[in-house]
Amino acid sequence: MARLNPVFVCSACGGETLKWQGQCPLCGEWNSLEQRTPSRARAAPAAAAPATAVPVAATTGSERLMSGEEELDRVLGGGIVPGSVILLGGEPGIGKSTLLLQVASHAAQARPVVYASGEESVAQVSLRYTRLGLSAPRMSLVSETDLPAILALATEQRAQLLVIDSIQTVQSGSAGTLAGAVSQLRECTAELVRFAKTTGCAVVIVGHVTKEGTIAGPRLLEHLVDTVLYFQSEAGSRYRIVRATKNRFGPANELGFFAMTGTGLKEVKNPAAIFLARAPEPAPGSIVTVTREGGRPLLIELQALVDRMRFGAPRRVAQGLDANRLAMLLAAANRHAGVSLQEYDVFVNVVGGIEIAETAWDLPVLLALASSLADRPIPQSLIAFGEIGLTGEVRPVAYGDERLKEAQAQGFKVAVVPKDNAPRRAGPGLEVRAVARLSEALEAVRAG
Ligand code: TYD
Ligand code: MG
Repeated sequence: MARLNPVFVCSACGGETLKWQGQCPLCGEWNSLEQRTPSRARAAPAAAAPATAVPVAATTGSERLMSGEEELDRVLGGGIVPGSVILLGGEPGIGKSTLLLQVASHAAQARPVVYASGEESVAQVSLRYTRLGLSAPRMSLVSETDLPAILALATEQRAQLLVIDSIQTVQSGSAGTLAGAVSQLRECTAELVRFAKTTGCAVVIVGHVTKEGTIAGPRLLEHLVDTVLYFQSEAGSRYRIVRATKNRFGPANELGFFAMTGTGLKEVKNPAAIFLARAPEPAPGSIVTVTREGGRPLLIELQALVDRMRFGAPRRVAQGLDANRLAMLLAAANRHAGVSLQEYDVFVNVVGGIEIAETAWDLPVLLALASSLADRPIPQSLIAFGEIGLTGEVRPVAYGDERLKEAQAQGFKVAVVPKDNAPRRAGPGLEVRAVARLSEALEAVRAG
């Protein structure tokens, strides 16, 4: 048998190198490389498990398992794919266990499900389970941190769904170190992936997100699994958003909305206006736009603040928006609309903790910046959307009609939109002001 050379695994990023160095060449962390002998971690499973054929049916969409939460199923691309591995990340206390208990209980109405909690005792989980009014005849609840024992139970029960809550609490003998260490996280996840692929059982793994905002062991688990979901919310809000940042079996960047209530997570079927709790008085720098982020029209407040720069280079801070695009917009505003912010710090924020990747926020952000600069509020009944080109033209965006319809449904009175997005006949109650250039858009807002 060929002699196996040791490898060095970084405890910060999980990367491997062949020789020891003081600094990890992949993530730059110091003193983080630990020696591992591949014979235990790598060679053993390969020798023990011959290649297994997975029935094609296990990977086709027709047999997807419905989670019981339409909002979650949408984000997954139509339910849970058998044999797939889903990683659900989120800060502690956001509601990951609550959501998965609800999902597990729904799935367990018809098929065997194993819910392994290493975080809470069976008594604690059961208490929550009854409090949520759930009951499922085919659910096995275990408080267990030993992964081989969990997998043995899932095999014995012929589970079709296995929930691991959380990956940070489980450990497997083959990886040597303590639960939560990077090598453990990686080995356990790899074992769960093998289990899912060989048995066709879908696996959902909970991962706590660290302060830096990535699932612990940066990026380490994400490439091992099929789907990565993040559960997020804004501090103090009862609304929760589920986003797929990676999905082998459906669209990425769909959003699902939930509200945390006294009796668990409830779906929000029409989320269009949930982030629109605005100040009673109009304030300079605030504007509402309609985005299509996550596959549905969503009304979102954008806030901008410009403040005279104190020293050094002006600051450009964008929360929820692309900062490079903001820099480009500032140049366009300077050259084509006479809005000069070279000597100002600029801060832009999307209210509600949403990230907007589309370009329809260009126009509203510039209007909000101009409003903050002039210290003049934009009427609260006005919405705007549109993309800005480098020559100062206002370009159309996709789904213009749908956005206008939603704005009208939410009672907005004036819409400043790209000329090519203006409908031939506007719906009743909504005055559409079509603009072709940035300067015209500023005029259209000043008209009140
Ligand atoms: P939890 O699902 O334990 O979060 P995670 O698993 O992500 O750490 O959610 C815990 C929070 O949710 C806790 O602060 C209490 C709250 N909660 C409710 O408001 N209503 C409920 O019905 C439940 C079960 C929890
Ligand atoms: Mg939990």
